[in-house]
Amino acid sequence: MKVRILGDPVLRKKAQPVIDFAQVRAILEEFKMTMYAEDGVGLAAPQVGMSLRFFGMDDGSGFKMIVNPEIIEHSDEKELGEEGCLSIPGVFADVWRYKWVRVRYQDEHGVYHEELLEGYPARIFQHEYDHLDGVLFIDHLDTKTRTALAQQLKKIMEERSKEMMK
Ligand code: NI
Repeated sequence: MKVRILGDPVLRKKAQPVIDFAQVRAILEEFKMTMYAEDGVGLAAPQVGMSLRFFGMDDGSGFKMIVNPEIIEHSDEKELGEEGCLSIPGVFADVWRYKWVRVRYQDEHGVYHEELLEGYPARIFQHEYDHLDGVLFIDHLDTKTRTALAQQLKKIMEERSKEMMK
């Protein structure tokens, strides 16, 4: 599986709910290996070209497949923390995220789970969840930070188009 880079339209599409769980199970091993090979703590399906509502994450407690996720409740308070994204290589910036989120999702077998996530796991979940709606972490940055990163982002997109021409 190839990780899609900023500029790829699939990253900006709203992904569709998963109906066929066998499809998720069939690609699970390869998906997981792709995430770990890139040293990611999370990987969303659109990042490998699948416009479906699922992502994988590992907050240090092992790999979890999160299918058809929902954020059903969240803290009022947000906190700032550094993020990066496998689709935007080499770019890191501080992003505001809810301190905690109560989430509901299905696993690769279609079984429902409900969890309260706080801190780092909550941050990963919110970042990956955004991918399913075509939102990237750079969209959350203030104008000043985004302007500071503009050249770097442009370069990533140019590299990608060169790659596509080959
Ligand atoms: Ni990402």
